[in-house]
Amino acid sequence: MEDIKKHLQTKWLGKTIVYETAMSSTNTVAKEYGKKNVMERQEKSIHGTLFYTLKQTAGKGRRGRNWISPEGNCYFSVLLEPEIQAIHISRVTLVMAMAVAQAIQNVTGVETQIKWPNDIVVKGKKICGILTEGSSGSDGLEYVIVGVGINANQQLFTEEIRDMATSIRKETGEVVNREQLLAQCLNVFEGLYEQFAKTEDFSALQRDYNGRLVNYNREVRILDEEEWTGVALGIDETGALQVRTAEGEMRTILSGEVSVRGLYGYV
Ligand code: BTN
Repeated sequence: MEDIKKHLQTKWLGKTIVYETAMSSTNTVAKEYGKKNVMERQEKSIHGTLFYTLKQTAGKGRRGRNWISPEGNCYFSVLLEPEIQAIHISRVTLVMAMAVAQAIQNVTGVETQIKWPNDIVVKGKKICGILTEGSSGSDGLEYVIVGVGINANQQLFTEEIRDMATSIRKETGEVVNREQLLAQCLNVFEGLYEQFAKTEDFSALQRDYNGRLVNYNREVRILDEEEWTGVALGIDETGALQVRTAEGEMRTILSGEVSVRGLYGYV
């Protein structure tokens, strides 16, 4: 905890920290905290509260998957009370992806890329996942939780995911200071989020995001109602992925499973 505070250079993010050595899931704890705050109509703003733990016993991944969370990696969630429309919350995930990608690179020197929408990838393997959850009430969006799991110091991966996942320690051979890394994620996120919140779109961030996009100009396989392939041409101002089909038609992908040829075992 002291290392987080020591490295934190934010104005409003992470000023309140909820920390336990173990949590079920930082997202779940953050959600309960947000719910309690709404129910009790507390005056104090919870915007920017950080939830941090050393290991999770019920870590959650996207699409209802588990996020196995042994000690040594970096698990945190930030709670936001954004003044944005509920339909735009998935965009906050992309902002966090940019922040984490930059932060990992700043702190460790490891070159990072982003797999749309929100995996951080190093040499074709996943190093971080992000799960955003929101809660809306009758007055619109109440709060948003952005949860981040970075494979920091994990050295062993099960056979099932060995070809798809890596950690910073595996890439550099050095132990990572998780709290310094976390603080750096928040330092970068605060600035990017402020830029994003002005317009609620990616007009200011699109170029940087596309510069890191591992999908850029590569064949992708999309699974929506049917399965089809195309070439990804980056995100547009809304954060949606632009894909050109083999017939030259441009399609806009708002969500869904996107596999990139050459990544995570897609050959
Ligand atoms: C994914 O499936 O890629 C998203 C994984 C998100 C994991 C993080 S770890 C911290 C936070 N708490 C959770 O339970 N999940 C997120």
